[in-house]
Amino acid sequence: MQKLNYKNLLIKKNKIPITCLTAYSKPLANILDGKIDLILIGDSLGTTLYGMQNTRGVTIEMIKNHGKAVVLNTKFSMTIIDMPYNTYRNKNEALNNAQDILNFTKADFVKIETDKKNIGIVKYLTKNKIKVVSHIGVTPQKFQDFSKIKSVGKNIKDKNNLLNLAKKLEDAGSKMIVLECIGLDTSKKITENLSIPTIGIGSSKYCDGQVLVIDDILNFNANKKKPKFIKNYINIEKNIDNAVKKFVKEVINKKFPSKKYSY
Ligand code: KIV
Repeated sequence: MQKLNYKNLLIKKNKIPITCLTAYSKPLANILDGKIDLILIGDSLGTTLYGMQNTRGVTIEMIKNHGKAVVLNTKFSMTIIDMPYNTYRNKNEALNNAQDILNFTKADFVKIETDKKNIGIVKYLTKNKIKVVSHIGVTPQKFQDFSKIKSVGKNIKDKNNLLNLAKKLEDAGSKMIVLECIGLDTSKKITENLSIPTIGIGSSKYCDGQVLVIDDILNFNANKKKPKFIKNYINIEKNIDNAVKKFVKEVINKKFPSKKYSY
């Protein structure tokens, strides 16, 4: 098997859906590698791994360290790494930080949350040979309180604004665009009007690909209220819970470690 490249992803557009999940560590990178097209080292690690209220507290050092662990253990899939909050407020800051993150991690793409105010930054990064994935619709770094997040692109004005933004980001050199929580008609229209792939999260099956946070499909934090677009594929907490209970019982009953597990 060979490592996937950007041409392979472009060929998939309109034909075979592109798959993407987040990973923040070596064990998960090892499991996902080669089974999924894209591995995203997302700043969602702030909430999923570090228990933050939002993604704004994620630092460059955090994303670099998790990114390096993932990329070192990814041989076949391509990797996207998020630029954290307040690390791309102007062109120079964006370029310095993107180069720092990519030099350290060797990820394939950086992802930045975009709106009409930072199209110029995408253009500047692209001009400087940085491969950029743009992220539009609901952009989590704008939210202190995730319970306030609502889907967008449900009326004509929003639809046209998002479509124009997506086209401008394509012209600015974006390699892909993540569409988050964008209404079905709008995400379909955007996908049909772009020649680069769209990757949806809560944005319908009409996108060229789908991304989810791995903790969500594994059903970590099972008791927490989750957005409508999240589907659980396993109840991992139940499995961990069973293993922990068995371990505790065996230790208390002096069944573990038996001779087999002793030197
Ligand atoms: O940080 C992240 O995991 C993301 C996805 C939600 C797309 O940006």
